[in-house]
Amino acid sequence: MENPRIDLVLPHLRCPVCAGPLTRTDRSARCAEGHGFDLARQGYLTLLAGGSRAGQGDTADMVAAREAFLGRGHYAPIAGSLARAVGTVPAVDDDGVPPLVVDLAGGTGYYLAAVLDALPRAVGLDVELSPYAARRAARAHPRLAAVRADVWQRLPLATGSAAAVLSVFGPRNAPEIARVLAPEGRLVVVAPAQDHLTEIIGPLGMIGVAPDKADRLARQLADFAVVEERAVRYRAAMTREDVTLEALMGPSAHHVDRDTLAAAVAALPDAVDVTVSVTVTTYRPLPAES
Ligand SMILES: C[S@@+](CC[C@H](N)C(=O)[O-])C[C@H]1O[C@@H](n2cnc3c(N)ncnc32)[C@H](O)[C@@H]1O
Ligand SMILES: [Zn+2]
Repeated sequence: MENPRIDLVLPHLRCPVCAGPLTRTDRSARCAEGHGFDLARQGYLTLLAGGSRAGQGDTADMVAAREAFLGRGHYAPIAGSLARAVGTVPAVDDDGVPPLVVDLAGGTGYYLAAVLDALPRAVGLDVELSPYAARRAARAHPRLAAVRADVWQRLPLATGSAAAVLSVFGPRNAPEIARVLAPEGRLVVVAPAQDHLTEIIGPLGMIGVAPDKADRLARQLADFAVVEERAVRYRAAMTREDVTLEALMGPSAHHVDRDTLAAAVAALPDAVDVTVSVTVTTYRPLPAES
């Protein structure tokens, strides 16, 4: 394989078994201990430690719905706000080696690609469990590489390697984020606010934002300090098809059957003004207590 995108981030990657550096030979990567990992034909590197009881991440159908929905641009203002937040991270402006931006559970690479567009020197890594998402991410942007890994395990990344870590509507492993961040690095989190998608949650039987979501996030990130928080809130005019994709791309997909969803969507007007409401919060890691 000639110059795959994974080579852009290889110096930062670590073996998930022994944490040693990796080198690539054609369609695989391996460490000095001889642990080997497959580079898929679609361009993503699988860095799952054997025996890890990881699930599979999002299904093929969910990922297809997510890609189609995001392609319609309704969440472009979220991507824009995220890109502006990452642009102010001190470690991103450092001279020297290209800064690394890591998107944890980054899905199809939609948000990371927007961030990289705004940061011409940076390289990006999408860490995803779903092979369907990883293969899309691997072709989302010329400076974006994808690895298949479980964010609940030790991340397959060198300590202090990331100028910025992103977490957009996804699971967060706070101790590992703190470990992989550079000293001046920042974590940027996009999380839904209480009124996110409020017009369609009830009618479509979707899972709403838990009332204690903000408290849970604060507890989870107790070892980080908030540097900046922006609310992004607007109304998006969504068609019935947009709304269907929105329901099928998220956790609600496991709870609603297709016929019930189709009936609920048919009862909606042709176009629905849907509230999009999220917070984009930048955190810095607090020094570890001694
Ligand atoms: C709600 S989606 C968000 C995706 C992306 N950040 C976005 O907003 O488009 C959650 C993502 O987390 C991934 N995921 C779930 N569990 C994971 C894990 N343990 N490790 C890595 N990714 C995981 C899923 O495959 C899915 O792509
Ligand atoms: Zn190894």
